[in-house]
Amino acid sequence: MSKIISIASQKGGVGKTTTAINLAAAIARNDFKVLLIDLDKKANAAVGLGFTREDVKKSSANLFFEDNIESCRYITKNKNLDIIPGSIKLNEVEKTIMCNGESIFMLHNKLENTAYDYIIIDCPPSLSLLVDVALYASDSVLIPTECEFFSYDDLIAMIQKINEIQTIKKKSKKTLVVEGILLTKFDNRNVFSYKIAEKVREMFPEKSFKTVINRSSHLQEAQYYGKDVISFAYNSRGSREYRKLALELLGLDKEKK
Ligand SMILES: Nc1ncnc2c1ncn2[C@@H]1O[C@H](COP(=O)(O)OP(=O)(O)OP(=O)(O)O)[C@@H](O)[C@H]1O
Ligand SMILES: [Mg+2]
Repeated sequence: MSKIISIASQKGGVGKTTTAINLAAAIARNDFKVLLIDLDKKANAAVGLGFTREDVKKSSANLFFEDNIESCRYITKNKNLDIIPGSIKLNEVEKTIMCNGESIFMLHNKLENTAYDYIIIDCPPSLSLLVDVALYASDSVLIPTECEFFSYDDLIAMIQKINEIQTIKKKSKKTLVVEGILLTKFDNRNVFSYKIAEKVREMFPEKSFKTVINRSSHLQEAQYYGKDVISFAYNSRGSREYRKLALELLGLDKEKK
């Protein structure tokens, strides 16, 4: 059975997609079979892994209807990493699921009994129905939080959303846990970054990842070249930090070679 992790935050630009791509790649390097599902109509995750929007014939939108994982997934250049890209068609999905009371189960049902060890879901920046569906399908949620005040402030609304979905899942004896809060875009020259980091750790002492993702131009550059940062610049800071995050999440001391 796969472990399903949503990367979610209603705040835009906090590093959800960057984390989804690089964490998925880092987990895959540890010999786990990983599927990355993009639930954002911007389709940044596939583009960041070298696909063009024209390459994408089927997307995560199809998963909500007649298609299954096998017919929507694409093989990436990374061994062990497949992707189901996002597309603008997710707009239609959202309209459809609004009219269908059963829709919260739709993704969950499609992700049961797959051959993947990990499924990472990149969520759109909202608390929309698509995010409800992703959280319902997930075992846990990783919340990237940029080291600035509004991002910290938005954490409360995200936690409330998680509580809401936990309550629905409990009725079917299923759980949703917070995998962890990940501090992103940390700027070690900015005193305020340290203050926000301290606040988050005070608020969620058990749930804050020890690994912090610093600002790094390699992360942006890798996306420009359509690669995860580990393949792009193995020894860069961004690569080291996402590999460390994967080890922390997997509970491993060192990487499998
Ligand atoms: N640690 C980092 N250092 C430098 N730039 C970063 C870092 N993390 C993300 N970025 C850049 O910040 C921008 C937003 O990142 P990303 O797309 O991952 O955020 P997001 O939360 O997925 O955004 P959205 O909410 O719009 O989907 C991108 O240009 C990305 O390259
Ligand atoms: Mg994104």
